[in-house]
Amino acid sequence: MRSFHLPWFRINTKTDSTKITQSLFVLFGIFFLQTVLAADPVVIKFSHVLAASTPKGMAAEKFKELAESYTKGSVRVEVYPNGQLYKDRDEMVALQLGAVQMLAPSLSKFGPLGIRDFEIFDMPYMFPNKTTLYRVMDGKIGANLIAKLESKGIKGLAYWDNGFKQMSANKPLRNAEDFKGLKMRIQSSKALDAQMRVLGASPQVMPFSEVYAALKNGEVNGTENTLSNFQSQKIYEVQKHMTLSDHGYLGYAVIVNKTFWEGLKPDIRAQLEKAMAEATRYERRIAQEENENALEKLRATGKTEIYILPNESRRIWQQALLPVHDQFAEVVGRGTIQAVYKIAAEVEKEEKLNKDNNSSAKAKK
Ligand code: LMR
Repeated sequence: MRSFHLPWFRINTKTDSTKITQSLFVLFGIFFLQTVLAADPVVIKFSHVLAASTPKGMAAEKFKELAESYTKGSVRVEVYPNGQLYKDRDEMVALQLGAVQMLAPSLSKFGPLGIRDFEIFDMPYMFPNKTTLYRVMDGKIGANLIAKLESKGIKGLAYWDNGFKQMSANKPLRNAEDFKGLKMRIQSSKALDAQMRVLGASPQVMPFSEVYAALKNGEVNGTENTLSNFQSQKIYEVQKHMTLSDHGYLGYAVIVNKTFWEGLKPDIRAQLEKAMAEATRYERRIAQEENENALEKLRATGKTEIYILPNESRRIWQQALLPVHDQFAEVVGRGTIQAVYKIAAEVEKEEKLNKDNNSSAKAKK
């Protein structure tokens, strides 16, 4: 009687064939399991230019945590903050070439890619509140913009929020005329260029990572950004004055390399989409909180004088900046501008109605 040994059991050739088949199944099962477990995880390199402590930085970490847990380790997300892998200018190219798989550039940085339509988000005083903004992003306009990325080998997954932008310089910025002759750092958007020119300033495109040094050495005199960016980049150390103007918006599109994304197994992609939806809800919540906290922290430094633009001056700034909408109507689409105005008007009406209902409910008490 011949017999042979396997590491953990012995098969007798006289054993009936069913038993052999069963044993082979067990063997194959174990082999298959070992192969699957040993398979390299899919790696997503997520590069961004902000500090890990910012809303974008924290949400990138949240996505990592959720994505890895939902895919049970078959995806590994590596987050690279502070532009340590790629700076503003290079990250889009790196994504298109597949050197990184995921980015969250600001909406103002899609122009150089040839998709100028995103400049709708750079129109000054276009979005009176976050409700209007989210309706635009999460509605038809936002979806159409995201769809345009596909021709560039990019897939858009979500819109992330930062907040409304404020102005800073080393001199007080109270009136629109105060910008005359100032060199102002902007992101790579022609609409932001136009906004600064309308104010009489001289715009200078510059990567985010270079802003602090450029303000310090006087290469530029001022800038615009959100409170959380001013705070996390310590811009308050190099700017004596800030005006809370809420004149523009800064948000992000989370994007992936299209070929990479479409090459993922459908069940993995579905789990990643779920992780992204959750991370997006988290991001939008903390963006609001972080900007509020940042204002307190900026005040506490005592280094920058913070001026709240009074409503009357805000109207004057608005009037001064309004021509930019018309100037960019062909670029971002006249219809899109009209559609945003309409959404803003609807939101205003709803908010007024809510306010009236609340006060009549209070009066009845
Ligand atoms: C900037 O360049 O000012 C911002 O886009 C940076 C960011 O990602 O918030």
